[in-house]
Amino acid sequence: MEDQAQALREMMGRASPQDARPLGAPDQGGMGNAAKKTRIIAVASGKGGVGKTNLSVNLAIAYAQLGKKVIVMDADLGLANVNVMLNMIPKFNLYHVIRKQKTMREIILDTDYGIRIVAGASGFSKIANLSEEERQNFINELYTLSEADIVIIDTSAGVSANVLSFVAAADDAIIVTTPEPTAITDAYGIIKIIATEIENLNIGLKLVVNRVHSVLEGRRVAERIINISGQFLNLKVEYLGCIYDDPIVSQCVIRQKPFVIAEPKSKAAISVQHLVSRMEKTEFSDDRGFGRFIKKFFGKD
Ligand SMILES: Nc1ncnc2c1ncn2[C@@H]1O[C@H](COP(=O)(O)OP(=O)(O)O)[C@@H](O)[C@H]1O
Ligand SMILES: [Mg+2]
Repeated sequence: MEDQAQALREMMGRASPQDARPLGAPDQGGMGNAAKKTRIIAVASGKGGVGKTNLSVNLAIAYAQLGKKVIVMDADLGLANVNVMLNMIPKFNLYHVIRKQKTMREIILDTDYGIRIVAGASGFSKIANLSEEERQNFINELYTLSEADIVIIDTSAGVSANVLSFVAAADDAIIVTTPEPTAITDAYGIIKIIATEIENLNIGLKLVVNRVHSVLEGRRVAERIINISGQFLNLKVEYLGCIYDDPIVSQCVIRQKPFVIAEPKSKAAISVQHLVSRMEKTEFSDDRGFGRFIKKFFGKD
């Protein structure tokens, strides 16, 4: 499809810092050089309920506290978790963008915590069925996200095609596990599928061990996963760190307030702050531009 490739190439050029359009402003099709440094972080896990949404939201806020512009995209199609955790009820979501009923600008929600959120849609599963025009429109709308410094994508558990698309397209994939044997096995399972299913895997694969009782416990769990990934998959997985098991996490979920805000001195909040500073120290090849995300997401590479 020659003209589609051309359209993609043109679009690649738009997401640059020179394009200083405000978040969500209509794309004027400016001549950028695709050098916008948006870091796209997909949060994934093998097993459900291991803490992806808590990590996504609180990591996002901790990033925002460092002065970054952050958008959390809820790509967990079944459970609309991100907004629930923030006590928000989005009227519109990505489905409406895909269907051209709303623009991305119209569905991005401000929160009280310095981050913005985008509600997901089961419409994602229909991306393969979009007409060329709808697809191009959606690609255009996705570029709105390139105004952020950080985009955190909270995915659903397991390995649907959607999760794999997000992981393939991201700069970093954070795999979340807990010390439970089932979670560890499933974390290795998703890493294995990522390694075998994604061509030209070119992402920073990172591991977070949630709900630990000691730093040592986290390190031990991580070592097991990292060692077998290296041994059997020849894959480098980096240990990003752990989050303490902390009763304030579920209390804050019930209060619908993120714990880094409500309980900033708690063990869980301090853990997340450490994760952010470690993320900031990890390499991120910021010369690839947002265009790469789009290209990879739509399987063009
Ligand atoms: N560090 C933690 N300490 C204690 N409980 C936690 C922690 N992380 C997660 N939980 C519990 O696990 C539940 C599920 O977390 P959630 O982020 O929704 O998981 P996921 O998005 O992976 O399904 C939370 O509501 C909370 O009760
Ligand atoms: Mg979740």
